[in-house]
Amino acid sequence: MRKAVIAGNWKMNKTVSESVELISDLKSLIADVIDVEIVVAPPFLAIYHVAQEVKGLNIHVSAQDVFWEEEGAYTGAVSSKMLSDVGCEYVIIGHSERRQYFGETDETVNKKIQSSLQHGLTPIFCVGETLQQREAGETFSIIETQVRRGLSGLSASDMEDVIIAYEPVWAIGTGRTATGEQAEEVHSFIRKLLKEIYKDTADSIRILYGGSVKPDNIDGLMTKPNIDGALVGGASLKADDFARIVKYQR
Ligand code: 13P
Repeated sequence: MRKAVIAGNWKMNKTVSESVELISDLKSLIADVIDVEIVVAPPFLAIYHVAQEVKGLNIHVSAQDVFWEEEGAYTGAVSSKMLSDVGCEYVIIGHSERRQYFGETDETVNKKIQSSLQHGLTPIFCVGETLQQREAGETFSIIETQVRRGLSGLSASDMEDVIIAYEPVWAIGTGRTATGEQAEEVHSFIRKLLKEIYKDTADSIRILYGGSVKPDNIDGLMTKPNIDGALVGGASLKADDFARIVKYQR
């Protein structure tokens, strides 16, 4: 049985004080939920403050990116070691916005996943096709390439600590969610691919769906056998909406 994960990606939103306000509101709404792993990913500057607020609760903190070196002359970068030090436990890696705006490649994604695992962070590894790729019938080949390259060199035991997020680029921030069927089709494809590479370990790897997840579509998505949770953007910035998503219909 895979424990569901509901993660909120705050992206480049919220100052430190706004982040503290949002997490305080969220705490009061979801403190009683224990059967879902709850994760929030504030911007770097707010990570420490949010982590202080949720100490000892079933709300965990994630970063939205990381650099693979531990320390050194890498101006502007933040390492896994630094993230762990401030109470961060997860890190989103390879988000399509990082791939699109910041030159992230399958190779850099792979290095970041390896480094985060070495430092005890749980990577939330994102894959997804663009609309153009979907319309050209390339969805499965794109996803397969991203998965194989992103996870290159990882063992089955490494994979016990990896979460995958399928985020079709055309569904991110557009209000156009993949249907449960469209998402399940790709999730089951990813599961099959993981089975081929990692055998039985594949059954315990959580695969999240991301892309316009809202209170009104989460229940349907969560009924699908290979959808193990959600990576939520816009709706994670509103405490009531995120709480409703965390409390999806069981
Ligand atoms: P939206 O939920 O705003 O579409 O964003 C999804 C996403 O990119 C989460 O990482």
